[in-house]
Amino acid sequence: MSLKVLILGVNGFIGNSLTERILASKDWEVYGMDMASDKLENCLDNPRFTFVEGDITINKEWIAYHIKKCDVILPLVAIATPSLYVKDPLKVFELDFEANLEIIRQCVRYKKRVIFPSTSEVYGMSQDAEFSEEDTSLVLGPIHKQRWIYSCSKQLLDRVIYAYGVHEQLPYTIFRPFNWLGPKLDRIDEHKEGSSRVVTLFISNILHHGEIKLVDGGKQRRSFTYIDDGIDALIKIIENKDNCAHQRIFNIGNPKNDVSIKELAELLVQLVKEYPAYKNLADKVKISTVQAEEHYGKHYQDLGFRVPSIRNAKTYLGWEPKMDLKTALLKTLDYHLDGSKRTSSAA
Ligand code: UGA
Repeated sequence: MSLKVLILGVNGFIGNSLTERILASKDWEVYGMDMASDKLENCLDNPRFTFVEGDITINKEWIAYHIKKCDVILPLVAIATPSLYVKDPLKVFELDFEANLEIIRQCVRYKKRVIFPSTSEVYGMSQDAEFSEEDTSLVLGPIHKQRWIYSCSKQLLDRVIYAYGVHEQLPYTIFRPFNWLGPKLDRIDEHKEGSSRVVTLFISNILHHGEIKLVDGGKQRRSFTYIDDGIDALIKIIENKDNCAHQRIFNIGNPKNDVSIKELAELLVQLVKEYPAYKNLADKVKISTVQAEEHYGKHYQDLGFRVPSIRNAKTYLGWEPKMDLKTALLKTLDYHLDGSKRTSSAA
């Protein structure tokens, strides 16, 4: 019998890429719920995919029924954009923590395997050169810095899941994406300031606004990971060969793609110049600096650097990321800007 996978938030960045890969490379069945299906155009007609449009906080019966019916549950619904952590922290708590806690409890009740998306954000402002799942302390700022409510909500759920593992034998795997990027991360035509994450936002800034704003000068660093590498890891986690992912936490990131946000902005501008129809816009774009408080408000606080240790993923999953940052950005740009017209041939 083929594996039945339940994905809540199936139209999201991770959900839609994972579904597409599963349907193309496995004989598994996918049951998915989301409020929209615009990123699932390649999946909706597949007989092994069942999609239901709905909100996880309302369609509780459908969810309970499918948790019982499926073998593996991925509750991927969450608010994951920093500007919303400071604008609507209670919504972040309600959705990312409360709504997901209900799902986790049902996985406990029905003894179902759950694969939970934690986040690189749980490490907060730790000063470790590499963040390790077992050894790194999770360092957050004061309560008035509301940005940390996302990190804190995810951290508490990680701790709850871990405790259910110890006390109720919950079969779980926790994964922590480190700044995953790729074609369907966020929409580039969304003009609302701050509604996307940095890569999409910068592309949109180059195309529509003529200006990239580096928060506090852009010295802060992130390790960017291409979505296909992330999905490779998730497939191995779902397969769980010889129980290799059972009750473990994995950082899923690319330590080799560690760059400052300023370097990211400069690289993106340089790469957009390779698309003749957009070169003019890239030539004209201005890179400026904005203070964090002005950009995000007084409840924001940033972290300086974030490099994953991927020793666990290498050891237990046999996984390593393959995609360098430049190629990852070109693939993302090809999706938005018509890659067939690009002047360079790499990627
Ligand atoms: C992200 C988000 O919290 C989640 O998507 C996720 O859980 C996690 O990290 C992850 O993907 O690993 P962050 O990296 O701070 O957090 O999010 P971005 O909005 O992508 O910002 C990255 C950096 O770019 C920040 O330092 C931010 O201040 C900077 N930035 C952002 C700018 O300099 N200018 C802008 O216009 C926007």
